[in-house]
Amino acid sequence: MAVERTLAIIKPDAVENNHIGAIIKRIEEAGFSIRTLKLVQLSKKEAEGFYAVHRGRPFFEELTAFMSSGPCIPLVLEKENAVASWRHVIGATNPAEADEGTIRKDFAESLGRNAVHGSDSVENGEIEAHYFFPEHEIVANS
Ligand code: CMP
Repeated sequence: MAVERTLAIIKPDAVENNHIGAIIKRIEEAGFSIRTLKLVQLSKKEAEGFYAVHRGRPFFEELTAFMSSGPCIPLVLEKENAVASWRHVIGATNPAEADEGTIRKDFAESLGRNAVHGSDSVENGEIEAHYFFPEHEIVANS
């Protein structure tokens, strides 16, 4: 299987609820390499840019207000099959539907405040990673 990168975000609810360490532990235990990470406070405009694909959806305003309501932590994760693997580790978008043992099952509050983000494809993973990090800030593998 191909080594891939994906963009994860520890969202403002998880940062506020002191789940940063627990979520990073899950990332490490699942075998991902963290290639870069940072704590950022998004502006409303930056949150709208990141989620531009959802512009016009009924939840867009709530989503971008929430994502700019406090600091979040974007991380570039690398692993074989990273996109699907990270989505498996985080669980369903709605925590009420998330499997036992997933990050959203254990740490998310609601569909809107769902603790973490994961890219939905390799192509979007690259685009999303570069929304936060220029290529030279993504540390190369060994
Ligand atoms: P995320 O994986 O970050 O991608 C888009 C986000 O929109 C999603 O997680 C949810 O937190 C949020 N969201 C809010 N309402 C909805 C909805 N009805 N359907 C899908 N996503 C929603």
